[in-house]
Amino acid sequence: MRLTIPDYIQAIDPYVPGKPLEALEREYGISDSVKLASNENPLGPSPKALAAIRESLSTLHRYPDGAGHLLIRKLADANRVLPANVVIGNGSDDIIALLVRALVRPGDRVIVPRPSFLMYDITATAAGAVVDAVPLKAMAMDLDAMARRVSTDTRLIFVCNPNNPTGTVVTQKAFDDFMTRLPEEVVVVVDEAYIEFARNSDCLKTGRLSDINRPVVTLRTFSKAYGLAGLRVGYGIMPAALAEVLNRVRQPFNVNAMAQAAAAAALDDEAFLQQTIGLVHRGLDSLYGALDRLDLTYFKTEANFFLIDVGQPADIVFEHMLQQGVIVRSMRAYGFPTYIRINVGLEEENRRFLRALETVLSRIGNP
Ligand SMILES: Cc1ncc(COP(=O)(O)O)c(C=O)c1O
Repeated sequence: MRLTIPDYIQAIDPYVPGKPLEALEREYGISDSVKLASNENPLGPSPKALAAIRESLSTLHRYPDGAGHLLIRKLADANRVLPANVVIGNGSDDIIALLVRALVRPGDRVIVPRPSFLMYDITATAAGAVVDAVPLKAMAMDLDAMARRVSTDTRLIFVCNPNNPTGTVVTQKAFDDFMTRLPEEVVVVVDEAYIEFARNSDCLKTGRLSDINRPVVTLRTFSKAYGLAGLRVGYGIMPAALAEVLNRVRQPFNVNAMAQAAAAAALDDEAFLQQTIGLVHRGLDSLYGALDRLDLTYFKTEANFFLIDVGQPADIVFEHMLQQGVIVRSMRAYGFPTYIRINVGLEEENRRFLRALETVLSRIGNP
């Protein structure tokens, strides 16, 4: 086959998701394995969301509500903005893609932090944009350097708060200063995929009415704290004029009927959300304690995942952990060759991870 592929598409390294449990169990012939690699909710989906899914099953022969009225109204009420400020997507990945499709032409520039969520780079590169990657400073977003990178061709800036994979946050004050330094036509996307877990009271939180008057887009997702990663629902809060443009370029039924029903129900399940947040905070504190006892370096986080320096090539530790039935994420591709990232699991999963890590490190040499 002779395909003519643009150079900028050829250059893309595909996103490598966390290894699925089924794949591990199939390949290694084991059962009862544990996945701590994709920052998912270890409690499963909210019971209210499951009930809503069951209820939606009998109408699956119908198209979903393409305008997502019910879910959008609930999201607008929960965030004290208007429905015209909310766009829903097939995961927040979809909103990232819509923003790039609507705002970026080939040759335009997009500023991203590095290391951070890789889909910013991939999506912008796929649109033919030039990606200006700004290195983190002390594991955190360097807003000053990002502001300095802005040129007349800059269309979008991605800010990840808390940042994946480092778990650090931006403060409200730093963000407000940053915004004053930007030209009005540059759109700033603040990805708050993990914001529900942040404990730092200075942490920036966008998506309020005051942000609707500036070119800020807040991205949120039901994949993490709400436990619905498999359904794919995310949303953006943004100025109505921008939401209107995104609605022009999205697929008419980009969020399926089950996902809309489940997300609306999950939003009402405050008890489940609080249970999830409590589990993550308790899990983090006990994992930190255990890693201190193992004398390993780790980085405290504002999210439900964190980085551990295992002092050995992370890809090798990843492979050995797989043999122990525990899936972690190697951070080599993120520029941290000896770091792994794990998310907090159930108590028993965390203990299983620690036992496996001790076994692996004693086999391949503790730093
Ligand atoms: C920072 C960040 N943003 C967005 C996403 C994508 O989330 P969704 O499942 O809503 O597409 C992820 C998923 O890992 C993430 O880590």
